[in-house]
Amino acid sequence: MVVLVLSEVAATELNLEESFTTHAGIAHTRWATHGVPAPRNSHPQTSGSGNDFLVVHNGVITNYEVLKETLVRHGFTFESETDTEVIPKLAKFVFDKANEEGDQTVAFNQVVLEVMRHLEGAYALIFKSRHYPNELIACKRGSPLLLGVKELNDDVCNGSAFHDAKFLSKNGNPKELFLSSDANAIIEHTKKVLVIEDGEVVHLKEGGVSILKFNNDKGRNGDSLSARPASVQRALSILEMEVEQINKGKYKHYMQKEIHEQPESLTTTMRGRLLRGGSCKAKTVLLGGLKDHLKTIRRSRRIVFIGCGTSYNAALAARPILEELSGVPVTMEIASDLLDRQGPIYREDTAVFVSQSGETADTLLALEYTLENGALCVGITNTVGSVIARNTHCGVHINAGCEIGVASTKAYTSQIVVMAMLALAIGGDTISKQERREAIIDGLFDLPNKIREVLKLDQEMKDLAKLLIAEQSLLVFGRGYNYATALEGALKVKEVALMHSEGILAGEMKHGPLALVDENLPIVVIATHDACFSKQQSVIQQLRARKGRLIVMCSRGHVASVCPGGGCRVIEVPQVEDCLQPVVNIVPFQLLAYHLTVLRGYNVDQPRNLAKSVTTQ
Ligand code: G6P
Repeated sequence: MVVLVLSEVAATELNLEESFTTHAGIAHTRWATHGVPAPRNSHPQTSGSGNDFLVVHNGVITNYEVLKETLVRHGFTFESETDTEVIPKLAKFVFDKANEEGDQTVAFNQVVLEVMRHLEGAYALIFKSRHYPNELIACKRGSPLLLGVKELNDDVCNGSAFHDAKFLSKNGNPKELFLSSDANAIIEHTKKVLVIEDGEVVHLKEGGVSILKFNNDKGRNGDSLSARPASVQRALSILEMEVEQINKGKYKHYMQKEIHEQPESLTTTMRGRLLRGGSCKAKTVLLGGLKDHLKTIRRSRRIVFIGCGTSYNAALAARPILEELSGVPVTMEIASDLLDRQGPIYREDTAVFVSQSGETADTLLALEYTLENGALCVGITNTVGSVIARNTHCGVHINAGCEIGVASTKAYTSQIVVMAMLALAIGGDTISKQERREAIIDGLFDLPNKIREVLKLDQEMKDLAKLLIAEQSLLVFGRGYNYATALEGALKVKEVALMHSEGILAGEMKHGPLALVDENLPIVVIATHDACFSKQQSVIQQLRARKGRLIVMCSRGHVASVCPGGGCRVIEVPQVEDCLQPVVNIVPFQLLAYHLTVLRGYNVDQPRNLAKSVTTQ
């Protein structure tokens, strides 16, 4: 995958020989997989009363039950319900055993390596131990891990915060090192990072860093970690992210901010990729990360979109235009379902992996599976340096900027735009489709303005939220380009406002959903002006005939044709080129979900039980 945002700093190599007087600490925000959120289940988990070993963990250990049984047989008692607790206990077991057998204290990284040999599943781990004061060891398999490096300049060095600190590097400046599973957590401290790879063990000791690479980690193929590790020396990367991106600015919530910054995020997504007029008369699309692979993609037997959650919905929204412009059959796969079925993937397929974070566990496993089956893998992600960005053959970064709200908003619209550009790029420049292509390119240029217009519905959506505040359920009917809008609109309401809502393919209405219709259940029908419009008019008539409580989303100026005689609430949106309409149509749903959540008193940015980046299966 082409790196668009990270730039390498060749001169800034980690100096493995420096040493310092240090202080080392670990902390963790837990997303519960095993055991309820409670102090006993929070991290660090410990090896027992003496705190010989402490561990923070992001991931899931799949063989923890077997390990636990063994450790219990050796006299360990467990206090938490976490899978993680086996790790520090195993470290203590290994440490005690090694010291019984040898006369020298075993090295910290040897303990960790031995532990890793027994772990199956996914993990990013940091170990701390009273036997190795001021040292930390981090390692990973499957879950993301970054090492951040900050050398403080003299000004900061003289400031009160570090007045007494003695973390001095060779040049006299203090140095701080950070280990994190997410760039957001360290960006306010440093932009210099090293993306840690599977099998690498990072050892922080006396302020110095050494990184060793071990091959063939056991969890994957049963081999043991190689006894002869290679020392890792590679250049640091610079995160091109600003602290302001992780501030809320004038907004109350990240979700609100991210909804309202869509005109700008879409502009950034398209910057430098759409060409029209000027010296280049033709309207065209340039996707640098794909240009060497377009021929192969055009010759594919099929294109398979693979993703989860909102990213899947974005792909679904783009599917029709990709089919239309490329002529290649496009199929959809939810990553977990592809894995459950071990669905067929062929060498002649192009698999497009869509993921905001680039780290979603199911999508990563589906990528591994697809690579094994020989398909060309394309990544569409918002996170430079993520596993999907690194492990796909080629791809496009969506460049939507940092998204923090758990409910994805601006990444969704940018993903659709990238996939529309992908469709244009794959479609090539056939004369028969030229008019259509140019209309789409013009539509893309104008999209940020249209989003500005639709954002003016904010108050109207707040009023609608007030009407719906006490409802138990909401249905959303869509079809064609806006089937995805129905799914994604319902998902937004469900995930943040904690209200049951369901996106329904309107063509399936008579095959079940109609039974739910009465005068109480609110139903949104998306009936914007495209090829499916007359079918949606018919859906509205049938719902009205059953006294359905309708809210109709229609193109501006079409109220009379969607709701003859009045009687339904209408959301009017600007009309754009049909394949771009999902980008406009989702915005009122995002606003509705946001206001409903605030009015219902729920946490907007961190909805109950959900995580932004689901790095566990
Ligand atoms: C989680 C998030 C969703 C996101 C999904 C896929 O469920 O809460 O907002 O759509 O993961 O994430 P990805 O990073 O792969 O797009």
